[in-house]
Amino acid sequence: MDVAENGAAAPLREVWYYAVPGRLLKPGRMLAKTMLGERLLIGRGGDGTPFALRDICPHRGIPLSCGAFDGKEVECCYHGWRFGMDGRCTAIPSLTEDQPFDLSRIRVKSYPAREVQGNVWVFFGDGDPAAPGVPEIPVLPDIGGDRAPSLMETMRFRAAIDHAVVGLMDPAHGPFVHRAWWWRSRRSIHEKAKPFAPSPFGFTMMRHAPSKNSNAYRLLGGAPETEIAFRLPSVRVEHIRAGRHVLCNLTAITPVEEGWTEINSAVYWTMPWLGPLKPVLRPFVRAFLRQDRDIMTKQQEGLRHEPALLLINDADVQAKWYYRLKNEYRRARAEGREFVNPVKARTLRWRS
Ligand code: FES
Ligand SMILES: [Fe+2]
Repeated sequence: MDVAENGAAAPLREVWYYAVPGRLLKPGRMLAKTMLGERLLIGRGGDGTPFALRDICPHRGIPLSCGAFDGKEVECCYHGWRFGMDGRCTAIPSLTEDQPFDLSRIRVKSYPAREVQGNVWVFFGDGDPAAPGVPEIPVLPDIGGDRAPSLMETMRFRAAIDHAVVGLMDPAHGPFVHRAWWWRSRRSIHEKAKPFAPSPFGFTMMRHAPSKNSNAYRLLGGAPETEIAFRLPSVRVEHIRAGRHVLCNLTAITPVEEGWTEINSAVYWTMPWLGPLKPVLRPFVRAFLRQDRDIMTKQQEGLRHEPALLLINDADVQAKWYYRLKNEYRRARAEGREFVNPVKARTLRWRS
């Protein structure tokens, strides 16, 4: 048993965070979004490239997202200053011909932005996001490089990022929080043993043969095998293989405003027959996320009193790993050295 940190630690900065589902960004459009307490303008150029700028005009502080975007330049709505997608000022309409002014002196901070498998991510660090010491944006295997999610759900939680991450990877709350007649009850609790191994900037619950082989799996083309990988800063990838088909769930947690996080859950699959079932599946995904959201809202009531918390073996070992990974990443970046994954391979056992 360990005493946990209180989970109020600041989010990591030298990392990519999930920003928005790509389909919300049409070419030539922009939107405003607060992430890590910073106001961002996230847009997509007419050529399809996503970009992100500080959503504050350097002239007099108006949010640039209140202005207009023509697919190449953002025009501030106050005095019409224009900025390229890289944040460089391109025009100040009030200047007269004989007032030479070096526009390149004026810049809006720009954030690296990238789209991967239908999701736009933003990098918050000052360093190079492509540096080897930075966790890459996860690419889900077996579903194709440019496939967009088949199902997408976004929800806001009243929780600091650490509590949201720990809550979502917590294996022991299932039978209590996600209780449902169609899913499971307290009576279904049984002992589990799952092999874990370190993986890039995180850990993975390894794929293993399911305990029993049911005829029902024939429908899927084979018994499902699940692998769940966690990666800094807050990304969980569940990969389920059944016969020749694959279902993947990407869950990414983004700190938005102080005390609030946003969870984005994207589901991808290769089974064509699941497509028509989308309207049926969506309420289940939503109900599941709502249960997590509601429990974290209740947790906030207690956390306001800043209690010391407990991490219990083995059910909370993943939470311990998370805190260790985060601390090690912060230290490695600060010291300019290589990240050393603190996770050791082992089997974790718990009842749930
Ligand atoms: S405040 Fe943006 S142009 Fe003046
Ligand atoms: Fe949950």
